[in-house]
Amino acid sequence: MAEPTVHSTTAITEEDRAFLATRRGVLKGVLGLAVALGLGSVFCGLYRFLAPGGGAAAAVEIPLGDIPLGASYTFQYGTIPAIVLHEEEGKPQAFSLLCTHMACTVVWNGEKREFYCPCHDGFFDAGGNVLSGPPPAPLERLRVEVKGEKIWVGGA
Ligand code: FES
Repeated sequence: MAEPTVHSTTAITEEDRAFLATRRGVLKGVLGLAVALGLGSVFCGLYRFLAPGGGAAAAVEIPLGDIPLGASYTFQYGTIPAIVLHEEEGKPQAFSLLCTHMACTVVWNGEKREFYCPCHDGFFDAGGNVLSGPPPAPLERLRVEVKGEKIWVGGA
């Protein structure tokens, strides 16, 4: 038995080819843009995760009077939440509030003098060291400089 032969009854015109070429070009452009945006967001996230202090954030100036002895002061350092602890002894210390486990925001408990991560019950001491839970590393310390009546946190 012979295979049936299929004959095309329509011919593709030059106009059709031009239309198809334009559609293909638009689809390629949209696809390329989607891929570029996806890769861009992946690299931005990676940079934020790997760069100390969430990237090259400028130093933050905090008046010393805003942080009396024994107090804490939370602020935004670039794109990350951060805190200064002005302990009774020693100079103020600053930390990123991003948990080193999966980057949830940790909370400072001044009474217990420890940080708590509510996502997976991670605990850190007042020096940012891991006390318990899944965090694999201490909280990131930020550079602190006391100049006169001001504290400068972060910066290069
Ligand atoms: S994100 Fe903090 S313990 Fe998991």
